[in-house]
Amino acid sequence: MAIISDDAGIEKRAKRNPIIKSETIEYDNTFENSIRPKDFESYIGQSALKETLRIILEAAKKRGKPLDHMLFYGPPGLGKTTIAGVIASQMGVEIKITSAPSLERPRDIIGILMSLKGGEILFIDEIHRLNKVAEEILYPAMEDFTLDMTTGKSQTAKTLRVPLPKFTLIGATTKAGELSSPLRDRFGMIHRLEFYTVEELSEVVKRTARILDIDITQEGATAIAMRSRGTPRIANRLVKRVSDFAIVKYDGKIDEDVANESLDILKIDEFGLDNTDRALLSLIIDKYDGGPVGIETIAAALSEDVRTIEDVCEPYLLQAGLLQRTPRGRKVSPEGFRHLGRKMPSAQTSLFRLD
Ligand code: ADE
Repeated sequence: MAIISDDAGIEKRAKRNPIIKSETIEYDNTFENSIRPKDFESYIGQSALKETLRIILEAAKKRGKPLDHMLFYGPPGLGKTTIAGVIASQMGVEIKITSAPSLERPRDIIGILMSLKGGEILFIDEIHRLNKVAEEILYPAMEDFTLDMTTGKSQTAKTLRVPLPKFTLIGATTKAGELSSPLRDRFGMIHRLEFYTVEELSEVVKRTARILDIDITQEGATAIAMRSRGTPRIANRLVKRVSDFAIVKYDGKIDEDVANESLDILKIDEFGLDNTDRALLSLIIDKYDGGPVGIETIAAALSEDVRTIEDVCEPYLLQAGLLQRTPRGRKVSPEGFRHLGRKMPSAQTSLFRLD
């Protein structure tokens, strides 16, 4: 049981505390939010996940019960928040969106839990970063829909069990392995989101171009999709950038040449790598003979933090086979050398053969 406060009346204050409200990230009007699909039909890709969810949602509706708690994991930008929004709108319920780093104090998570209504969805992004106290508040909330609170100082301490409405927690993380097992075990469904194929991404690109009222050819959409690192968030950003080029420099229409020329100017290469990705690979090749080298050393040399390298750059470089993770650190693969137009040192070539 978590010790929440040493004085009484916390639940009343939590309810009216404006800080708690302002720390709940609601859907805003950013470009990304304005193009988020709201139903399964317009949500492209992740077909296995959609199939499972369709059944789970129908069963919950038939039973008149709230959905099981769900955990989505995978690299950033693959649509974890988006699918949570789709689930909420298909269930006809509200979704409250927050992220673990903004649930620092016990009253933050208590305030949000107490503001929920029956059936509503609480979405916690980066849930692996939840602190221990917040986690312990969540356990009985997830399991029994109760808040266990201790009020008063040691001798006069009183335990208060506050019932909560039946809600659904959807957690999202880029690092499922960093979740404690008691928290992981409380999710009824755990699903990994996969990188998108070029065909799926070109559908995402065409859908976004339609919303932006921009003409695009199939070849133009494929060209953007090929440089989007398997990630719809990147595809959507590139559509926006390329359409700016198309409007200013061309007649507003995106074809293959317009897409490729704009992406070249933006320094997004044919694998979708940007300057940071290429700097990372070049660093390992030029300064460490292709690796292996530790992630901290790479981050320091690039003036980036380890988390950005691990969460944002690496997943795609690994998946594309340009980078390899070994017990002694990261090394650039033969494909990575080839992609940057570099020759592998002969010792390195034999090292790879031995691996
Ligand atoms: N935008 C972001 N993710 C998407 C998806 N999966 N389908 C359609 N549009 C998206």
